[in-house]
Amino acid sequence: MDFNEYNATEAVLESFSNINDDRLKTIMNSIITHLHQVVKEVEPSEEEWMQAITFLTSTGQKCNDRRQEFILLSDVLGVSMLLDSINNRKSKNETESTVLGPFHTPSPNLNNGDNIAKNVVGENCIVSGKVTDVNNKLIAGASLEVWQSGPDGLYDVQKGNEIVDLRATLQSLENGSYLFRTVKPKYYPIPVDGPVGTLLNKLDRHPFRPAHIHFMVKADGYVDLVTHVFIDGDKYLQSDTVFAVKKSLIRKLIYKKEKDSNKNCFHLNFDIVMKKL
Ligand code: BEZ
Ligand code: FE
Repeated sequence: MDFNEYNATEAVLESFSNINDDRLKTIMNSIITHLHQVVKEVEPSEEEWMQAITFLTSTGQKCNDRRQEFILLSDVLGVSMLLDSINNRKSKNETESTVLGPFHTPSPNLNNGDNIAKNVVGENCIVSGKVTDVNNKLIAGASLEVWQSGPDGLYDVQKGNEIVDLRATLQSLENGSYLFRTVKPKYYPIPVDGPVGTLLNKLDRHPFRPAHIHFMVKADGYVDLVTHVFIDGDKYLQSDTVFAVKKSLIRKLIYKKEKDSNKNCFHLNFDIVMKKL
């Protein structure tokens, strides 16, 4: 019988009958079933299908070793956070995870108390907290990678020079505490100079993410944690363009005197609770 709109899905699924890898078979069956369903429901014209192909082609062409436009696409379509929800289901009081984002790169080791803002001017901010397990046991020697954008809304890797800034790796101390100095984070737009930016524009969506600092925390015997701390009151908390805000990750910035000093600066407290492996 000829391949037609009524037998198409069955015919393609039948062509997978010899796949040995069970997981691959499940995935391919699901992709084809849903993809065919979309085409049957939307009935795209051939021009519209070509537009879709052209969009995916330019998404691939925008990728290089410093830019991953497909991850950005997955982020703005909520797929990255859906994957996060499925793979990091909360079981107790551990700190919730959120999206990694495209700007994580290896960072220099710094000591507690150091300033990670080397090359930018902004409002001073002290970030501190403690690392514990879900039973409040302090964890010493946890590795904390932190990174953030500057007051201009850009990460160091977006600036086209090799200067590493606003990122560092530090260790929690014997009493589980950590502290670093930085500048107050600000909301910023995700990169919009590629196909994902064009898509957001066509969908009448803004490209902004609320102010945050990224954390990747690792400790022996615990599940690696990828998360952010968000700043309370930010105007984009309700509409993060990558859907990554979780209420439990929002903290207040407090403007007060620095310890042992007369100077005022912003303080942000973010305790981290790690889950056992
Ligand atoms: C970020 O927070 O760095 C980010 C996350 C997702 C997409 C773009 C940027
Ligand atoms: Fe970010």
